[in-house]
Amino acid sequence: MKIAVLPGDGISQEIVPHAVEVLRALPGLGDKFEFEEAVIGGAALDLVGNALPDETLALARQADAILLGAVGTPRYEALARRGRPGTGLLRLRKELGLYANLRPARIYPVLIDASPIKADIVSSVDVLVIRELTGDLYFGEPRGRVNNEPGQRECINTMRYTEAEIVRIARAGFEAARGRRHKLCSVDKANVFETMAMWREIVNEVATEYPDVELRHLFVDAAAMALIRDPGQFDVMVTTNLFGDILSDVTAALTGSIGLMPSASLGGGSKGLYEPIHGSAPDIAGKNIANPLGMILSAAMMLRHSFDLPEAAARIEAAVEQVLNAGLRTADIAKPGESTVGTKQMGEAVVAAVRG
Ligand code: IPM
Ligand code: MG
Repeated sequence: MKIAVLPGDGISQEIVPHAVEVLRALPGLGDKFEFEEAVIGGAALDLVGNALPDETLALARQADAILLGAVGTPRYEALARRGRPGTGLLRLRKELGLYANLRPARIYPVLIDASPIKADIVSSVDVLVIRELTGDLYFGEPRGRVNNEPGQRECINTMRYTEAEIVRIARAGFEAARGRRHKLCSVDKANVFETMAMWREIVNEVATEYPDVELRHLFVDAAAMALIRDPGQFDVMVTTNLFGDILSDVTAALTGSIGLMPSASLGGGSKGLYEPIHGSAPDIAGKNIANPLGMILSAAMMLRHSFDLPEAAARIEAAVEQVLNAGLRTADIAKPGESTVGTKQMGEAVVAAVRG
């Protein structure tokens, strides 16, 4: 089991090693993983002037799975698009054909108070957002500045989807719903955009293959509101690249902290890219206060989706729940006045719990 480890920027350097340690600590499995590291994002721009160096892409292609921290360095954000750290991540997703991004959000009973939403509303949250990851405004052409004259600047991005792209992500949504509570909500903006009307049309066609799954549609604005007012109604949501980016931050906020949220990006096969959904958080980098749990839970998703090791995945998830139940809190999930632990202490506690 060869794992490409791409730490990235900001807090990544602090959280990624804990995910690796947790995998190494798995009894009977830990020594079967082979890890190889490469640079991406701002770290790669610093080193070789390219946010996704050829060697990194080659390693990612060759590995069975990829574990990634987060990318983004403020001093690069002013650069042209091609020179930004995030472009490296977007290219990696696209080059590997990882079109389905799974972002599960669940509530830990002991953390209900960490949510900004009232306990009775949020206690039932158990939702999986499936975000299309290689199409839409993120990759549509034409794009860019068409006029740079002062006073007349003009810029274009293109919302574009093909039938094949919608069919495969819709299937991913229905299949996931089958493995859960058999409810799928497709989120679009079919009342305004032709692309989105076609999305809905095609999702309805795919639905005929899944009569056992209850399908409904929501416009993205209504979906955002429903996620706050009554999140318990959702099982699986399937949506576009841009809407999924936004709605998965909403579901993260429901759970109390984006620092808890893992993700898996999958294509046709077993290869996947596993990263927490939070960013590189440069403001708290190097301070030993970042929450490593979203990163560690991403490693659990890797075991489940790339290596078909659901029991090992469950062991990591149970270890995370155990340290939370024991009262360990990083700053992002602590109540006012509650004592906190650092990144290191939280990571080490999960490692110990995984060892058992
Ligand atoms: C995410 C992030 C990325 C995205 C950025 C860093 C390019 O927000 O993974 O949600 O927009 O996809
Ligand atoms: Mg995002």
